Amino acid sequence: MNDAKEEIKSRLAVEDVVGQYIELKRAGRNLKGRSPWGVDKTPSFMVSPEKGIWHDFSANKGGDIFTFVMEVEGISFREAMEKLAAQAGVDLSKYHGGDAEVTKRKNRAREALALACKYYQLCLTKNKTVCEYVFYKRNLNRQTVAEFKIGYSPSGGNVLKDVLIKRGFSEKELEAAGLLNRFGGDMFRARMMVPFIDTTGNVIGFTARIIGKGEPKYLNTQETILFNKSRFVFGLHQAKESIRRNGFVVIVEGNMDVISSHQAGVKEAVATSGTAMTEQHLKILSNLTSDIRLAYDGDEAGVKATERAIVMAGDLGIDLSVVSDYHGAKDPDELIQKDPELWRQAVQKRVPAVDWLLQKYEESLNLNSAPDKRKYSDVALKLLSYVKDEVERASYEEKVAKRLGVEVEVLREKGERLEQKLAQASKHKYLKKPKTEVKNDNLKRLENSLLALKAFGDITTEIPLEVPTNKDKLAELELIFNSEHEVSLSPEDLEKEAKSLLKRYKAEENKQKIEELNAKLEAMDENDAEFEEVIRQIRDLQNSKN
Ligand code: UTP
Ligand code: MN
Repeated sequence: MNDAKEEIKSRLAVEDVVGQYIELKRAGRNLKGRSPWGVDKTPSFMVSPEKGIWHDFSANKGGDIFTFVMEVEGISFREAMEKLAAQAGVDLSKYHGGDAEVTKRKNRAREALALACKYYQLCLTKNKTVCEYVFYKRNLNRQTVAEFKIGYSPSGGNVLKDVLIKRGFSEKELEAAGLLNRFGGDMFRARMMVPFIDTTGNVIGFTARIIGKGEPKYLNTQETILFNKSRFVFGLHQAKESIRRNGFVVIVEGNMDVISSHQAGVKEAVATSGTAMTEQHLKILSNLTSDIRLAYDGDEAGVKATERAIVMAGDLGIDLSVVSDYHGAKDPDELIQKDPELWRQAVQKRVPAVDWLLQKYEESLNLNSAPDKRKYSDVALKLLSYVKDEVERASYEEKVAKRLGVEVEVLREKGERLEQKLAQASKHKYLKKPKTEVKNDNLKRLENSLLALKAFGDITTEIPLEVPTNKDKLAELELIFNSEHEVSLSPEDLEKEAKSLLKRYKAEENKQKIEELNAKLEAMDENDAEFEEVIRQIRDLQNSKN
């Protein structure tokens, strides 16, 4: 497995891998960009092409291309490995390892799906009726059809299966790819085929629309070794460049809305399967941008989906807004058919999600009646409890109080009571902290700076920390050293720097110990035999501050 890792590393440049997610600018020997974890608004993310590593100063983490993809996509090492192997053109099945068999099966499935996609594309060009549907009824142009690899599945029953078997695929392999139905025939027949393309450009499944009317309207690939519905974002492969460049993403309900939107010039559009957005979807997108615009329908399902998104967005620091000005059209696609310019404007004219939801609640209630006022305050307060920023929340509270014709204090009191009730209930199910959440870990930061100085600063000041021997970690420290001392300091200044850092480090260490002891104290009973001892320890630490 390590051989494969090295092989992949040697083929992929760290700046190219990271550059797929973050805009990087050259800064001397390194490259700089903004933290994908959105902690800082200043460029605090560094990449060293020479060493093949990255370091995020604001989030205080770093590593190689594998750790980067794992963190940014929220995936396992195994998955990151597969993703990068595909990009590097490394055949993992050639390397020994426990999962070689799985990798091989996945590769075969990818090959089958790629071929199926090509075949469907070919079938489209040969079928006049379907061409009419695609080009005239759906108004897609040649470029869009090519970009989204739209095709047509023939109606025969086993047409694709026969083609692929002739090409050397086994029935089992086709089944694993999701291309067969439960009777062993072609899964997709006589439908417009839209492939699911992952962010590396591989076809991993299809959504297939009936031509004209009929049930089901869409037939989708079920979960397979390649396709995971709760993680897949439709259109992201085609949209990610624009999302990164323009700093926002638009989430629409239907896959066809994505395609139309791209054609209309709004290339930041993506879709999750229907309205079922998951935390994983949101996390993947929030790694690209913090400006997420929902373009769901204004119906009840759209309201529910928006509520869900707000709850999930809780801790991710996301700026959620709603695009809803459809001029009477039922979805973005219909609006675009009317006039693409209207869609482009709608995407700009977004409303903060909280305002939009409050408006929806108001519309469904009669705020002149006392019971409806109660209902409105219930739902509004629940919604506002997800607004993390105090100032923002206070401003909403005032707005809601005004609509209700009550003093804001009355509303806040009610809010506090609800809050207490909810604290014990299920609310936290959604509010659990995401894995990538960043702690402001001063101690770790200082430790890194000190280690960097000790390893690369050529100083005599005694630093009571062990320099790691791990190659990657050392490279990271060198990067830290070089970026913290961009202007070369004199030896005396370096010593001074070391002394000052060491002092801050010890103070910070003390502070943390005191905090820990205080927490221990709080959890203790006053009669506990250790109680006095802990208090003494705290006092000692406080006295030894300098
Ligand atoms: P819609 O019915 O709104 O689809 O379903 P649409 O995109 O407007 O379709 P067109 O314009 O009539 O072709 C929205 C999404 O719900 C899922 C699909 O992901 C679709 O894009 N869906 C819908 C299904 O999976 N199966 C269905 O039968 C219908
Ligand atoms: Mn539609």
